[in-house]
Amino acid sequence: MKQAHHLSRIVISTALGPAGRGIFPYTLWPDYLRFLRAVRATGTTVFTKSATRFRRGGNFRPANPFTWKYIQRLPRMGMLNAYGLTNRGVEALARQIAKSLRRGWRVIPNFYPEFAKGLETAAKETLQAIEIYRQNLGPAFSALELNFSCPNSQEAIRDNIIQGLTLTRRLRECYPNLYLVVKLSVVHPYEFAQELEALGVSALHAVNSIPYELVFPGRRSPLWQAGGGGVSGGPAFRQACAYNAGLRTYVKVPLIMGGGVTCREDVHRYFDLGADAVSLCTLALRHPREAEAIVRRGRC
Ligand SMILES: Cc1cc2nc3c(=O)[nH]c(=O)nc-3n(C[C@H](O)[C@H](O)[C@H](O)COP(=O)(O)O)c2cc1C
Repeated sequence: MKQAHHLSRIVISTALGPAGRGIFPYTLWPDYLRFLRAVRATGTTVFTKSATRFRRGGNFRPANPFTWKYIQRLPRMGMLNAYGLTNRGVEALARQIAKSLRRGWRVIPNFYPEFAKGLETAAKETLQAIEIYRQNLGPAFSALELNFSCPNSQEAIRDNIIQGLTLTRRLRECYPNLYLVVKLSVVHPYEFAQELEALGVSALHAVNSIPYELVFPGRRSPLWQAGGGGVSGGPAFRQACAYNAGLRTYVKVPLIMGGGVTCREDVHRYFDLGADAVSLCTLALRHPREAEAIVRRGRC
């Protein structure tokens, strides 16, 4: 595994699916297809949607129309999702990612350690996942993103932080040269980011979609029965931006800033705050033409 892994200045986060080369049925949409071509042609870094060690049936299932309600559009180019990490498991997805790499995509796998199974199991499964990526991707496997998304109660956040730090320490011991990106949520305190930096993570990515009740306080989420869901795109920008501005003052490690980008001005804003790279997700699904323009301009 190589030490240095250079991210492109604009990166795509999860909007190209678990293999990192496009999501069906978006691939039927000509604008999205054009965007995909631009991502590949420009060598833009793509973080996949999260994999878990084993197949996981979340809330949203592409083949079941009754579950499509778990992904909704919000005004101002926003989205609300309670996807629930539906995925085919790391073995199947690593093979798909290997295919993407052979076809010229620049893909970094995103893995979700299932802390709900207990720290020991989550750690064992994460180490197994890394070996599976190594076997399938070979020397092309040099980087991994860990999704430390976490729920919103204080106890859950505390546990998530302890588990996240313990896992990161173990991974660093076993794989000192892996380019390790940790993805944060707005509910993670900045001190957590500092501790991750001290453990030697290679980059931090902030932020994941924002719990509905934080973006719309006092309002009940249309997906309240599924835990409320996460808000992304335009309605998330203000909070994501404020979080990132604070985060930059706490850590020196490279930062991928994202959350709520809907136009070039938002990208500028993140670079002005000191981002090393800026991530796009919802924009690629809501307005792929604008996402394409941003990707083609690179830094903007
Ligand atoms: C439908 C959907 C599915 C997502 N799935 C994942 C996921 O599997 N893993 C992850 O780390 N982030 C996931 N995200 C979060 C995005 O990667 C991104 O961090 C977040 O949406 C904020 O960026 P944005 O406002 O540019 O979309 C998902 C977002 C959306 C809208």
